[in-house]
Amino acid sequence: MATRILSKEGLIPGKTSKLVLHAPAIAAKAKPGHFVIMRMHEKGERIPLTIADTDPEKGTIVIVYLVMGKSTAVLEHMDAGDDILDVCGPLGHPTRIERGGTVVCVGGGTGIAAMHHIAKGHARIGNRVVGVIGARSKDLLLFEKELDSFADELLISTDDGSYGRRGLVTELLREKLERDNTVFEVVAVGPVPMMAAVAQTTRPFGVKTTVSLNPVMVDGIGMCGACRVSVGGKTKFACVDGPEFDGHLVDFDELRRRLSAYRDQEKRSFELYEKARS
Ligand code: NAD
Ligand code: FES
Repeated sequence: MATRILSKEGLIPGKTSKLVLHAPAIAAKAKPGHFVIMRMHEKGERIPLTIADTDPEKGTIVIVYLVMGKSTAVLEHMDAGDDILDVCGPLGHPTRIERGGTVVCVGGGTGIAAMHHIAKGHARIGNRVVGVIGARSKDLLLFEKELDSFADELLISTDDGSYGRRGLVTELLREKLERDNTVFEVVAVGPVPMMAAVAQTTRPFGVKTTVSLNPVMVDGIGMCGACRVSVGGKTKFACVDGPEFDGHLVDFDELRRRLSAYRDQEKRSFELYEKARS
């Protein structure tokens, strides 16, 4: 059954949007950390997107995406009232949310939206939530207001210094860990280089570090092997074993290589799509 887009809000014009989808069965079961796999039309590819929020009473889920290629461009050209052909989920394991004290939730760029859902889960069970969010510039910073509504502390950086501290999220994270020894876990969602840098930053402090991986996925149920990642020297499938893993054990170099394996084809496909629309 097709899934209706109830509303669409452009967060960064032409680049990032927030969709509210009517998906009562998913909303009833989804927990922080879960994702969905969507296919926009009959000939479309299947893309994984992390669930950024749910409202079980209204039967809705929130998806936030960055236009990165053809499929997300197709999504960006859809609007409220349109139907997405398939939305399959909730998939993956939810975040393990345990009571422990202070948790630092790090989000970079579009990853802030997915991180916000995890941070909310920690706040709900009574953990002290410190949000650390970063974007290249002020206009690209997402979910500040939402995080501010429940986080106990919110630290912000921009690469160009247009808002908050000038620099990367990892600098704020390192300073936080230096002055606060009550942090029991760091959770990071964002670009792969950021998650790798977060794991490097927390390693000397010996703090548990959880990262949400975003490899290429096809079936999302452990059958195709597309989402293979190496964690602690073992092969794992991000869709059924993850998507969250111990950041100190992830082979980020391999993940980076696998994510770029089809870059030329993805670029060509995007260009052809844009050309056909112009
Ligand atoms: P971006 O490249 O603009 O980076 C955002 C912020 O991350 C930067 O401002 C910086 O603070 C931090 N960062 C980036 N590289 C860093 C590094 N090497 N060291 C330390 N900090 C660094 O982000 P974007 O263009 O919005 O891309 C978002 C990415 O997040 C996409 O690649 C998307 O696939 C990914 N994502 C992942 C998930 C997930 O579930 N894992 C969810 C949503 C988005
Ligand atoms: Fe196919 Fe994970 S997406 S095994």
